[in-house]
Amino acid sequence: MSVLESSVSAVDDLIPRPADKFSFGLWTVGWTGNDPFGVATRPALDAVEAVERLAELGAYGLTFHDDDLFAFGSSEAERRRAIDRLTAALRAHGMVVPMVTTNLFTQPVFKDGGFTSNDRTVRRFALRKVLRNIDLAAELGAQTFVLWGGREGSEYDSAKDVRAALARYGEALDLLCQYAIDQGLPLRFAIEPKPNEPRGDILLPTVGHALAFIDTLAHPELVGVNPETGHEQMSGLNFMHGISQALYSDKLFHIDLNGQRGIKFDQDLVFGHGDLANAFALVDLLEHGGPTGGPAYSGPRHFDFKPSRTEDIDGVWESAAANMRMYLLLRARAATFRSDPAVAEAMAQAKVAELKTPTLDPGETYADLLADRSAYEDFDADSYFGAKGFGFVKLNQLAIEHLLGAR
Ligand code: GCO
Ligand code: MN
Ligand code: MN
Repeated sequence: MSVLESSVSAVDDLIPRPADKFSFGLWTVGWTGNDPFGVATRPALDAVEAVERLAELGAYGLTFHDDDLFAFGSSEAERRRAIDRLTAALRAHGMVVPMVTTNLFTQPVFKDGGFTSNDRTVRRFALRKVLRNIDLAAELGAQTFVLWGGREGSEYDSAKDVRAALARYGEALDLLCQYAIDQGLPLRFAIEPKPNEPRGDILLPTVGHALAFIDTLAHPELVGVNPETGHEQMSGLNFMHGISQALYSDKLFHIDLNGQRGIKFDQDLVFGHGDLANAFALVDLLEHGGPTGGPAYSGPRHFDFKPSRTEDIDGVWESAAANMRMYLLLRARAATFRSDPAVAEAMAQAKVAELKTPTLDPGETYADLLADRSAYEDFDADSYFGAKGFGFVKLNQLAIEHLLGAR
């Protein structure tokens, strides 16, 4: 391949295409910039325009909350009109709806949550709102139904019986799963953890909490997680580790990619505009972390970002495009990292692959281990003092050099 050809194909790799499965929430590009301290800085965005622009930029999917598409309390006719307008636009631009979610957080009725409000009548209302939206998700062919419980939580420890709240959360999930089963819907549910904001403490605050909770459900096979970069990082956690554990449990049903700079309010920055090194490791994991080195995740690469309040409408589309370009840049850098012989050598020195070898031999028992003198009595633990370094820093430096385009 000539230098020119290779640079052309490298540029080509940076053009978002439907096969890349990039999707965006309608509420992301549609955010008008209102926050607790200020009013909107941009006009509202029409859903049809969102479809047109996102398709033009190379995205394949659009996701939404019910209330993003038709105002809370819309009549059946208004609701239908909004759905039909959207589906016509999607069809015209070859876009799909891979995921749908329900807004159980904006309206006053949900001030103490939906599934876990202390008020039982609110819980029944929330379930009805979600069931209605599941029908819509099925109508639009979505495979994933996300549940982000932003208002499911508390500020005051004495005011919320957390164990009862988790029981009600489980009751809700069990009912939704049973509904999907009875209706024969090919839909799976994905819980989106977040530690706080808007509630002081949100239930199921991290990927780990959500995974443990899923095991308590009647249909754990239908429920997974939708981790968001910034949400794990708001707890000071390593997002790549969280995603790895979700993959380990076979529960990565969906993903919300964005950027966050440390432990503070939810920033929803462009993907990669927060912890770039961790974003590189994440893309490397998603693209090359499968059991045989192939992709570890084949679902949508969904961006849940907010175009900053400082941006005008051109800046909104610049920001949307930046998410996809960041992903593709990181994917390209991860590919050069994986194909560099110096990286392979450093990985071997770091014994990265050795961790895949089981600690016991096939059929070996603890009795065999106890009888193995080389494992303990004759093992030279002292030889690790001042020697046998793993060379992890060298490997990490190579990763950063690939990330920077220096190799
Ligand atoms: C947030 C959340 C939300 C959810 C969305 C899906 O910023 O805290 O990411 O945007 O993803 O509401 O239900
Ligand atoms: Mn967020
Ligand atoms: Mn999200």
